[in-house]
Amino acid sequence: MFVFVMVALLICTEAPGSSAVTPVFVQTGQDVFLDVNEADVPEEFLFFLWRFNGKNYLVSVSPNSKPNILGDYTGRIELSENKYSVTLKNLQNTDSGVYTARVTTYVDKTLAEYKVTVQDPVSPVGLTVDSVSTSSDSCNLTVTCSSVDSHISSTFTCDDTTCSQEGGERSEVTKSGASLQVYYLSNASIICNHSNQVSWTQDMTDIHVFCLQQPEPPPSTSHHYIVGLVVGFLAVLLLLCAVGVVVYRRKRGKYEGKNNETMHAESTRYHLQLGRVSLCTH
Ligand SMILES: *[C@@H]1O[C@H](CO)[C@@H](O)[C@H](O)[C@H]1NC(C)=O
Ligand SMILES: *[C@@H]1O[C@H](CO)[C@@H](O)[C@H](O)[C@H]1NC(C)=O
Ligand SMILES: *[C@@H]1O[C@H](CO)[C@@H](O)[C@H](O)[C@H]1NC(C)=O
Repeated sequence: MFVFVMVALLICTEAPGSSAVTPVFVQTGQDVFLDVNEADVPEEFLFFLWRFNGKNYLVSVSPNSKPNILGDYTGRIELSENKYSVTLKNLQNTDSGVYTARVTTYVDKTLAEYKVTVQDPVSPVGLTVDSVSTSSDSCNLTVTCSSVDSHISSTFTCDDTTCSQEGGERSEVTKSGASLQVYYLSNASIICNHSNQVSWTQDMTDIHVFCLQQPEPPPSTSHHYIVGLVVGFLAVLLLLCAVGVVVYRRKRGKYEGKNNETMHAESTRYHLQLGRVSLCTH
């Protein structure tokens, strides 16, 4: 059977006007569905084949028989109800390549072709602020956006409302084929974005933290605060004076008699004394 297939492939010539290659990106470990439109399959044909990179065979279908999963693709392929479309399971980097569905009648005809690229998710990134310089009306900020294998620096000039990026948005293709970008987004955010076709990671910073000062508290607030403090302090002082006077008076009362005249004389003295205490405090 297989020899017959090989011979047939050698004999048959490629039909002109094959369908275009469809690019597909898949994250490592995930599945991909490779579709064949059943309406494109001729009613009469010798055999139908899925091939990988023009050499490995995945699936063969003969008319009026069940599809055959070939070689080491057993257990890695799920067939769909229409017999021709397939789902490749748990893709690894080595599965990247071109998958072609072909039907053979009196010529070969490509029914579908997919260029599958299997990608690992991108690594995390970090955004650091290298330098800041501020003047009364603007603020310059230099940042570096770094991934494991790449980094880019960029300078932003910001005023109260917006930032402009020196030389426009910066981006770079990393060694692993991902893209590293640094750009300004509204709401005073600078974004460092690491992305490929299947994933992205980001870090961001708020320029307010580095550039724009918080408005000073209104003077009335601080004024009230100080007045409150002084009043409180004076109240405490007055209370202490009063307590002192009472204690002093009690002690004196023990040693001296308690006739009205001395009481009167003493109370005058205490008043004087109180006056002296408050004088001292000023
Ligand atoms: C920010 O950079 C611009 C352009 O390089 C320069 O004209 C400006 O003086 C800088 N401002 C500060 C605060 O350093
Ligand atoms: C960003 O700004 C928009 C409108 O200016 C607002 O609706 C949104 O809540 C802001 N987002 C953050 C995170 O501040
Ligand atoms: C990062 O880049 C990806 C791919 O270009 C995009 O889909 C995503 O929205 C970006 N993230 C942010 C926060 O801009």
